[in-house]
Amino acid sequence: MLTLHSPAKINLFLKIVHRRPDGYHELASLFQALSLRDEIHYTLHSSDQLSCSDPSLPTDSSNLILKAVNLFRQKTGLLFNVKVHLEKKIPYEAGLGGGSSNAATTLWALNELLEKPVTETELSAWSSEIGSDIPFFFSSGTAYCIGRGECVRSLNPLPQTSLWIVKPQHGLSTPAVYRRVNLDKLSSHNPEQVLSGFIAGAPCYFNDLEIPALSLLPSLATLRTELLDLGFKDVLLAGSGSSFFCIGPATPPHRPDLFCAKVNYLNRTSGHWY
Ligand code: C5P
Repeated sequence: MLTLHSPAKINLFLKIVHRRPDGYHELASLFQALSLRDEIHYTLHSSDQLSCSDPSLPTDSSNLILKAVNLFRQKTGLLFNVKVHLEKKIPYEAGLGGGSSNAATTLWALNELLEKPVTETELSAWSSEIGSDIPFFFSSGTAYCIGRGECVRSLNPLPQTSLWIVKPQHGLSTPAVYRRVNLDKLSSHNPEQVLSGFIAGAPCYFNDLEIPALSLLPSLATLRTELLDLGFKDVLLAGSGSSFFCIGPATPPHRPDLFCAKVNYLNRTSGHWY
């Protein structure tokens, strides 16, 4: 059996450049992997099986883990089956890339279990066929991503900062948030300049998906104000939401309706998973 960690991600900034003819949005975004991680167990088996610690998560062919298994089989032509058990720690419909990370981790796991028939570069390139955010996880864990998000440039690790993830009970659907984007209401930041700022130690957090997400789920604005009032310096939507990442010397409230996790930035070196 092989056990791997599957990390969450946030977008330290996310700029929407334009809407593309294929319906996707051209992005310029700084992605960062986090120490908040699922744990996934893999065993080669006589049939494909997927189970999950959280019974509310679908384990049918819509699950990105099984899509990744089928993709690996189709691309390599290898005959195998695998039993997978997912210990879910990353909340879903949260903008934290949990499903994408599970898919990337699965491609990595299969390559390990089948004695490395392909390179990390091939795994990363294939993965973009089943999700825009998946190639990021084959980076160093800190990456500037453009295109749909699938064109990935790895960066050196950023300095750690005091960071919490906070998610309300309601989740958000990524396509629904993108459908709400008003192209006349996007930020005017120059992403290359913002990226240079992050590298130089002068971060500027922003997310063009925040306005559409808050219009879909107005209670998010109240939660953000509450978190800022507690003393967090920056409170930003994670990806397409509904979770926030909160930076600064504060602690989120203990409330049964909130998922809260103190996290760190997480990086990996080539040849090793997270
Ligand atoms: O690529 P993925 O399947 O993860 O994307 C989910 C949805 O998010 C897409 O169907 C699309 O509605 C939206 N999306 C987008 N532009 C991107 C990435 C995702 O519009 N760059």
